[in-house]
Amino acid sequence: MFTVEEMIEKMTLEEKAAICTGTSAWTTTPVERLGIPELMLADGPHGLRREINSSGLLSESMPATCFPTASCLASTWDVNLIREMGQALAQECISLKVDVILGPGTNMKRTPLGGRNFEYFSEDPYLAGQMSASFINGVQSKGVGTSLKHFAGNNQETQRMTISTEVDERTLREIYLPAFEIAVKQGKPWTVMCAYNKLNGIYCSENHRLLVDILKDEWGFEGLVVSDWGAVHDRVASLLAGLDLEMPGPRGLRVKAVVDAVSSGILEESILDEAVGRILRIVLKAAESPKGGEFDNKAHHALARRIASAGMVLLKNNGILPLKGQKKIAVIGRAAKEAHFQGGGSSHINPTQVDSPFDELRALASDSEFSYSEGYPADDSFHEELINEAVANARSAEVALLYLALPESKESEGYDRPDLDLTHQQIELINAVGAVQPNTVVILNNGAPVVVADWINNTAALLEAWMMGQAGGGAIADLLFGKVNPSGKLAETFPLRLVDTPATINFPGENGEVRYGEGLFIGYRYYDAKQLQVQFPFGYGLSYTNFTYSNLRVSNDKFRDVDGLTIKVDISNSGSIAGSEVVQLYVHDQKSELVRPYKELKAFDRVFLAAGETKTVSMKLDFRSFAYFHPGYKRWISEDGQFDLLVGSSSTDIRCRKTVSLVSTLVLPSLLTRESTLRAWLSDAHGKEVFTPLFNQFLAPMQKMLAGDDENGEIPPDTLNYLMEMQLVDLLHFAEGTLPGSPEDIVNNLLTQVYG
Ligand code: BGC
Repeated sequence: MFTVEEMIEKMTLEEKAAICTGTSAWTTTPVERLGIPELMLADGPHGLRREINSSGLLSESMPATCFPTASCLASTWDVNLIREMGQALAQECISLKVDVILGPGTNMKRTPLGGRNFEYFSEDPYLAGQMSASFINGVQSKGVGTSLKHFAGNNQETQRMTISTEVDERTLREIYLPAFEIAVKQGKPWTVMCAYNKLNGIYCSENHRLLVDILKDEWGFEGLVVSDWGAVHDRVASLLAGLDLEMPGPRGLRVKAVVDAVSSGILEESILDEAVGRILRIVLKAAESPKGGEFDNKAHHALARRIASAGMVLLKNNGILPLKGQKKIAVIGRAAKEAHFQGGGSSHINPTQVDSPFDELRALASDSEFSYSEGYPADDSFHEELINEAVANARSAEVALLYLALPESKESEGYDRPDLDLTHQQIELINAVGAVQPNTVVILNNGAPVVVADWINNTAALLEAWMMGQAGGGAIADLLFGKVNPSGKLAETFPLRLVDTPATINFPGENGEVRYGEGLFIGYRYYDAKQLQVQFPFGYGLSYTNFTYSNLRVSNDKFRDVDGLTIKVDISNSGSIAGSEVVQLYVHDQKSELVRPYKELKAFDRVFLAAGETKTVSMKLDFRSFAYFHPGYKRWISEDGQFDLLVGSSSTDIRCRKTVSLVSTLVLPSLLTRESTLRAWLSDAHGKEVFTPLFNQFLAPMQKMLAGDDENGEIPPDTLNYLMEMQLVDLLHFAEGTLPGSPEDIVNNLLTQVYG
């Protein structure tokens, strides 16, 4: 067998150009003469969409387990469970002869209107990063590859192929890139998929800064970069920008363009070789895992049920849940019979089997009598008679279970959501049923938050069951009957109203651009900053038991940034049944040079406790937990000072806190320039030192004038503040006559002293 370098040596220019473009919708180009096989890729992310005919793009696919979508997965906050799912996905890949699964979907949920949010994890980069890394580690531990997607700034469906995401550097580094960064560094995905959109005016597929400077050079990504399907516009430009593999194929003209570019010297062959090398290493790695055989579809279905019940979030409960032996149960809503368990688009799986939510209820409560009403039509038309029938059904029962699914017109890949509402019929249905049946429980199937304010008061309980995967019907029954204690917590905020959401006035953009005007403030970062009430906060979810937090302690009250900290806290289950709690650790910086979100999630853990049991949870914080990206220094920096550690059961339910003191080990250069203000000179340690003698000399003759009417002859703070915002050079002009030289020369001289 040849080494990769030897293979590249032996390949013709045409073969090299060809291997950088697919040969079909799902496979790369093989080179038979050298024994180089093809690589088979398939969607992703929450199950395998292995098409029967590999030349199709959305044709029939082989049966595979449809796991819950990412909204539900993230709500488990369970990195071990996600890793286990990854392993199961890999087994299905092996069985269906797939080398790389196209997932996880790691983009941030900038607005709940994003049509593809159901495929993405969270509004928080740390949580999304941890979920993505676990997914990748799980799949890849079995010798199957992943494709971390869509890199980057792909947060809406409107004009998804052309829109330019306009985002400032700090926001990019702190919000839109960290989940990818964590996934790349901790998970080492075999491939990264570039996004369709432009980032600050440059297509992601042609974005050298993104693909080479940041992904490959800064983060050390060693795999290959693949285009999203059809994201390449100029093949030569994309190769120059670090895009190794174009999909899908065949694309004869692209191959020719690359050959011509090398022949005419526009493209250096070494750049093509670099892409070929990255592709070959993955192709050969994939070939090491033999493919074929069966996968255990029963075990995977059971796993899908376990994950679904861990990720569903109990949002409201007046005590009606868990159900306690009610004999007459009215089941209302077509989603009870036709499970709504996944979203539309490229992630659509052909499931191996689907649990009927209605049948699963009956299976767990064979002594109860269940009646059924459809409740609402499949589309969003209005049918009064369905409501009337449901009301009659609910009235004659002890409890009404309303299963409500958002129709595909309101949520899918390919377009953004028109609003956050259930259909008019569904809202009327809840209110009418709730009016006659106080024990009304609503179960939602959707991939992203809905507004509940119009109807929640007419319910006794509300369960967010998400796009729950093929076994979700059973998971709902498990939770309603208390076979499983709810433990899911929201990975995204449920707002009170659409207009409250952070991107409201900057979405979906216009004239080909969408400006991320809210900057760092998405999700809870925004609601914190605006002190806005929300319906259900990030990190929130109820349980059938209660947890108490105590004894928060830290490894050091004062610590160096590079050393980080270990935090311990005792969690007790003070109720009478076993359950899991997700413990969340947020960091609040008391004072910083640049504006920061009030608090940010920096660690979490999920702990299972028997009734009455106490366990100690231990969480680690490192340099990055306290740092922020400073666009001036172009790096992550830490600042000396006090930080509050907030440990809670949700982002707004902080149970204990502790203040620690950080000592920064960074030695940062000055950022002073000819344009710097007086404030900038006095805030810069080195600048202040060299400038103070001159400052005193400058102030003395003007003291009287600046002091004005002040009795003690002091310069009033207002006047000083006014001066502070002036450029030093302009200020010096006021004292021209009293200075030893021209203001420009003086400032140049000071700068020389600062920079040497
Ligand atoms: C989607 C990707 C998907 C690919 C292949 C694209 O339209 O954006 O997420 O993996 O198609 O189906």
